Amino acid sequence: MKDTALRIADFKDSIFGVISRLAREHNAVNLGQGFPDFDGPNWLKDIAYKKMQEGHNQYAPFPGTPNLRQEISNYYKKFYSLNYHPDSEITVTVGATEAIYLVIMGLINPGDEVVVLEPFYDSYVASIKMAGGIAVPVTMHAPDFTIDQKELEAAVSPRTKLLILNNPHNPTGKVWTKEELVAVSNVAIKNDLYLLSDEVYEFLVFDGAKHLPTATLEGMMDRTITVSSAGKTFGLTGWKIGWICANQKVTNACRLVHQYVTFSVSTPMQEAVAEGLKQLPDYLPGFVSLYKEKRDWFYKEMKLLGFDFPIPKGTYFMMVPLLKHTNLKDVDYALKLITEKKVATVPPSAFYLKSAEGEKYLRFCFAKKEETLKSAIENLKGL
Ligand SMILES: Cc1ncc(COP(=O)(O)O)c(C=O)c1O
Repeated sequence: MKDTALRIADFKDSIFGVISRLAREHNAVNLGQGFPDFDGPNWLKDIAYKKMQEGHNQYAPFPGTPNLRQEISNYYKKFYSLNYHPDSEITVTVGATEAIYLVIMGLINPGDEVVVLEPFYDSYVASIKMAGGIAVPVTMHAPDFTIDQKELEAAVSPRTKLLILNNPHNPTGKVWTKEELVAVSNVAIKNDLYLLSDEVYEFLVFDGAKHLPTATLEGMMDRTITVSSAGKTFGLTGWKIGWICANQKVTNACRLVHQYVTFSVSTPMQEAVAEGLKQLPDYLPGFVSLYKEKRDWFYKEMKLLGFDFPIPKGTYFMMVPLLKHTNLKDVDYALKLITEKKVATVPPSAFYLKSAEGEKYLRFCFAKKEETLKSAIENLKGL
């Protein structure tokens, strides 16, 4: 029987699944998985429980509960002076992953081109393929992961409809400067493209930096489609509450897909996230300092082990160059670390379509308990 549709014929198990299975088999410390190995805040879990007890348990309105859409609108206004109307410009999704899928399915026709900046979050290219679109990669060149403006401009063709940008950036930990964002945005403006701005790590920026949403740049409000996720902000990735902020036309397109993919999103979790967003000003300082402490400690230890790279400014990832004396590529190096050193990481070549630059790196996730990070460093000693 031919039981696999052509549109997914070349899909493989995602690299995260493969690494996690190997990590379990070899009893390795897992710094591959991109989520915390500790729980999110108790006060928010208590609110979720209360919301269930209060009877918020049936289907939510399909664009998202009014409370949550209102609170999303409020925080974009409060933090970034951006105005999104909760009724017509905000849609709640099952995590940012569904949000990305909806935007791509809602906008891309077969044969349309989408510019993706590599290394990229792997669901972008999968969603583009499912829509019948073509992903056109532009490399963020190591070691600073900067874009060559000429390469970006050359990647745009008359068939290009969308450009996808991720800031702060997984897997490199890069926080884009205003100049860099303006340069990418200008390409979108010049060629009349939509720009999908994946900002799931918007609150994970360190050293006093402030997140700059693409939509705040001149000329970008109407063409930027912003995606974010409560999973990252509250360290509760399993809740899978994300959202899309976009103009009314794009919102309508996304909602048309959403109503037949998931229809609506978990009601009590939406109601809890709405309360969580109200608390952001009190919650964020502790959240950021917790992750900053982990970043600083892990970075210092990695340097002592001989890994040489600039400190990442955002997210909970480090893109770490392989030690100079190895001839191994990332996948083999990652396998070696799992089997010989009992430490699991992600080989980033999976996040590239064009360049081989990722073969010289590994992605480490430092969103882990102190003891997890300590055992990883212990295991890596003598490498
Ligand atoms: C850049 C990026 N975008 C989107 C997502 C998906 O987020 P969610 O868990 O809300 O679906 C992730 C998760 O790791 C991510 O790193």
